[in-house]
Amino acid sequence: MFKILEANELAANIHQLIVEAPRVAGTCLPGQFLIVRAEEDGERIPLTICDYDREKGTVELVVQALGAESRKICRKKAGDSLADVVGPLGNASDLCSEDIEELKKKKIVFIAGGVGTAPVYPQAKWLKEHGVDCDVIIGAKNKDLVILEERFKTVCNLYVTTDDGSYGREGMVTKCLQDLYDEGKRYDHCVAIGPMIMMKFVCKLTKELGIPTIVSMNTIMVDGTGMCGACRLTVGGKVKFACVDGPEFDGHEVDFDQAMKRMRLYQTEEGRLALKEQEGDTHHGGCGNCN
Ligand code: NAD
Ligand code: FES
Repeated sequence: MFKILEANELAANIHQLIVEAPRVAGTCLPGQFLIVRAEEDGERIPLTICDYDREKGTVELVVQALGAESRKICRKKAGDSLADVVGPLGNASDLCSEDIEELKKKKIVFIAGGVGTAPVYPQAKWLKEHGVDCDVIIGAKNKDLVILEERFKTVCNLYVTTDDGSYGREGMVTKCLQDLYDEGKRYDHCVAIGPMIMMKFVCKLTKELGIPTIVSMNTIMVDGTGMCGACRLTVGGKVKFACVDGPEFDGHEVDFDQAMKRMRLYQTEEGRLALKEQEGDTHHGGCGNCN
């Protein structure tokens, strides 16, 4: 069991949990994720890591109460426990293995949409700790849904934009990026994390602007080990599994339309059977030894 030390509501339906998980906190890096179960018999849900404290042995999760399982997690209070916190899973952000002096020469922009703001924070913080500056654009539907603003201000140059203009700039993140470009900003590298539809349109724009772009693919996940096929997607014409090959990919190579269609199909038994039939041997990744 993994004890919850703090539980807060950051915005409507968006909850922050600080969880005791020393083994995860000791090794995780920005970009990686966890698979969490509220109770022993619960459904597994993938959650990105918002922050970690190696000394205290804690990880911070930001969870949106969407389905039954995430609502169960969001109802937890300080002193309660989570049955499973498995991880760190997936690959760390490529930024963590790049030469720091080379990174310092790059103009980096992160685009953080809605709850996808949470996994951007550890990347911006990691860069700040390594002396690398970056810009971050946070996009939210309205003022009440902007999260982590004060913490971001301490690690980056921040732009906030709301769809309805109730706070910061007005419009979606793509409009903000285009406006910054029109105001003379130039970027060498973009990382976009948020709803898939947002990442699709950010990539469309950054392709036009010639900015290499990394996205973090938040597909449905079940086992997190490449075996079940839930997180299958196509990147550069090749079959990939977000849990083991990602979650970060070259956004200009991702087939977002297929990924979004597949997520919808995967939600029903009938859809899963149809995908299994269509995808044949490539439906799941396998363990590497079972052909
Ligand atoms: P949302 O729908 O409120 O969107 C957030 C922002 O994304 C908007 O304010 C807008 O600026 C931008 N956006 C949305 N649609 C766009 C479009 N068509 N074109 C350009 N920009 C657009 O976000 P939400 O409800 O907080 O998002 C929840 C989603 O985020 C869930 O689907 C969740 O799975 C996903 N998420 C993703 C990750 C990840 O790692 N990629 C992590 C956590 C959550
Ligand atoms: Fe099962 Fe990725 S979550 S293959």
